[in-house]
Amino acid sequence: MKVLLIGATGNLGIRLVAALLTHGHSVVAFVRSSNKLESLLPASVYHQITVVQGDATDPDSIKRAILDASCDAVVNTAGLAALPPWGHSELPAIFHAVVDAVREAGVDRKKPLRAWFLAGLGVLYYPGSESMLSNYLPVYLEHRRNLHLLKSLPPNTIDWSLLCPSVMTPESSEVTVPTQLLHGKLIANAATPPSWKDSWIKHIPLIGKTLVCATNALRYETTLEQNADFIASDLESDESPWSGTTVGVIDGSK
Ligand SMILES: NC(=O)c1ccc[n+]([C@@H]2O[C@H](COP(=O)([O-])OP(=O)(O)OC[C@H]3O[C@@H](n4cnc5c(N)ncnc54)[C@H](OP(=O)(O)O)[C@@H]3O)[C@@H](O)[C@H]2O)c1
Repeated sequence: MKVLLIGATGNLGIRLVAALLTHGHSVVAFVRSSNKLESLLPASVYHQITVVQGDATDPDSIKRAILDASCDAVVNTAGLAALPPWGHSELPAIFHAVVDAVREAGVDRKKPLRAWFLAGLGVLYYPGSESMLSNYLPVYLEHRRNLHLLKSLPPNTIDWSLLCPSVMTPESSEVTVPTQLLHGKLIANAATPPSWKDSWIKHIPLIGKTLVCATNALRYETTLEQNADFIASDLESDESPWSGTTVGVIDGSK
């Protein structure tokens, strides 16, 4: 596929450049600074991609980038959610702009685009309930607004998926194509975290589920490279098992 990658200079973004190329995609990187991207990638990788400069809060320039390059898919990694419940970041504005741009570009090309967005573990449901994990561990709450926006879209406007990892760490600071995963592929699940470990502790009034969420959260650390590979592999097929859903992931090799 031809993929518009928004936020290619970020921790996940640079690994996605390599993963997308490795999986045979064409990459159009949408960044604030092409110089910064060039400094982060080996010349051999940088010369394999197209770069568009722009601000991810501007839906018009994102839409133009999609249509000018005839992209079939968009991956948005731009913006970083605020940690405390009272925190604010640019992420909701970026998310809104990207959703608007992808939706409008889909109308112009008469076919919805495939799009991957990023959130965090907290927007997944506590297994067996319809209560989000972030009801028990209230951090990175901006992701909830973003999910609400995606769920409020009319059908057949964006073929979206929302990846919801816990902490992502780097396997390596080097970007190479083809990529080599040091850890195995991720195990994924729609709407709830895969391989959740429940406990009788959840029955302790008020704090039980918070304690279970806190102990589980540590088990969901994955690598940036694994998540980049997961998205790039999914975009290889026209039909995704993750369309229209949040996706939880765990490192099955641990
Ligand atoms: N890292 C984690 O452990 C983790 C875990 C769960 C979820 N997430 C989510 O995953 C996403 C990616 O995380 P990350 O660690 O890769 O973040 P990051 O390293 O902070 O990267 C953020 C990217 O957003 C770009 N950006 C910010 N504002 C922009 C704007 N107005 N226009 C264009 N680009 C803009 C930055 O570009 P510049 O280089 O120009 O600043 C950078 O490329 C985030 O949404 C984060 O909330 C991260």
